[in-house]
Amino acid sequence: MPPTPDYHGMTFRRCGDSGLRLPAISLGLWHNFGNVDPLSESEAMLVRAFELGVTHFDLANNYGPEPGSAELTLGKVLKGALRGRRDELVISTKAGYRMWPGPYGDGGSRKYLLSSLDQSLRRMGLEYVDVFYHHRPDPDTPVEESMWALDQAVRQGKALYAGISNYPPDLTRRAVEILRELRTPVVLHQPKYSLLHREPEEGLLETLGELGVGCIVFSPLAQGLLTDRYLEAVPADSRAAKAHGFLRREEVTPELRAQLVTLNGIARERGQSLAQMALAWVLRHETVTSALVGSSRVSQVEDCVAALRNPAFSAEELARIDGVLGEG
Ligand SMILES: NC(=O)c1ccc[n+]([C@@H]2O[C@H](COP(=O)([O-])OP(=O)(O)OC[C@H]3O[C@@H](n4cnc5c(N)ncnc54)[C@H](OP(=O)(O)O)[C@@H]3O)[C@@H](O)[C@H]2O)c1
Repeated sequence: MPPTPDYHGMTFRRCGDSGLRLPAISLGLWHNFGNVDPLSESEAMLVRAFELGVTHFDLANNYGPEPGSAELTLGKVLKGALRGRRDELVISTKAGYRMWPGPYGDGGSRKYLLSSLDQSLRRMGLEYVDVFYHHRPDPDTPVEESMWALDQAVRQGKALYAGISNYPPDLTRRAVEILRELRTPVVLHQPKYSLLHREPEEGLLETLGELGVGCIVFSPLAQGLLTDRYLEAVPADSRAAKAHGFLRREEVTPELRAQLVTLNGIARERGQSLAQMALAWVLRHETVTSALVGSSRVSQVEDCVAALRNPAFSAEELARIDGVLGEG
């Protein structure tokens, strides 16, 4: 049986004022989809996500390891288990971090962004991506140049929409203004946001709300810290234990663990796992279109999607959570 998405079980939210809707939970391929990971596992997660209505997969040129191999993995799955489902999927990629040696393999130049997108399309075997992002601001390139490159990608039909990631509020305003002057649809900003990383509350979420641009938040589980994975120890198969993982073992301090244990108690009272509460917490903002999770196994994808069963928080719960984290 070919996989069929459960569209009724998923919540879809509009990207700002645009017509594009994303599932409230999206899946990113930063870790666990490289050529160091078993293809069968990666494929199983993508298929299960799709069945659950997670119709958005997020990539970047450099996801792996090795860099580029996550795009190759997705390309294989799109030719395999998800063959023929392209129109039911929103696929994004990005350029902005180091991808190949020399001055044209990093940053925000037109030269880098457009050649990187061509490479990404070849790796995924696609004619177009839905969203092409500039992955991070480049202080050495005028923002006009980077935005004109995104505009060009859209005009060439290689991307349907433009996006920006890791841009601070002021530069976000400028970037959106440039793209809108060109009539290029800019639908998403992708910032880091979680219970443990609240910077977007200092102006970015408000700015995106005012601009009518959607917001897909990455690492809403703080790379796995906001789950039951680290409550007692650092499991051998966890991101913090892996040599190529971006989470360091030292980040799991006794102080943090004590906070996580208390948060886990609050989640249990809500009838949720800690991961589910952390996802509901980022999605409580109207401006947040989607929570972009990673996963290392099918059961995690299922657990994350089930967060949508209890999205509401009482004022008392929010205050208790802030109290645990020393906020407010
Ligand atoms: N724009 C940017 O600059 C940027 C930067 C980073 C990420 N991103 C995007 O955001 C995506 C998500 O980032 P992320 O992987 O850091 O997200 P995350 O959701 O915060 O962390 C994912 C990790 O949490 C653990 N996990 C997930 N669900 C779980 C569950 N239900 N129960 C227990 N553990 C669970 C797994 O850890 P284990 O692997 O240890 O099992 C998983 O690998 C990336 O794939 C990428 O697409 C973008």
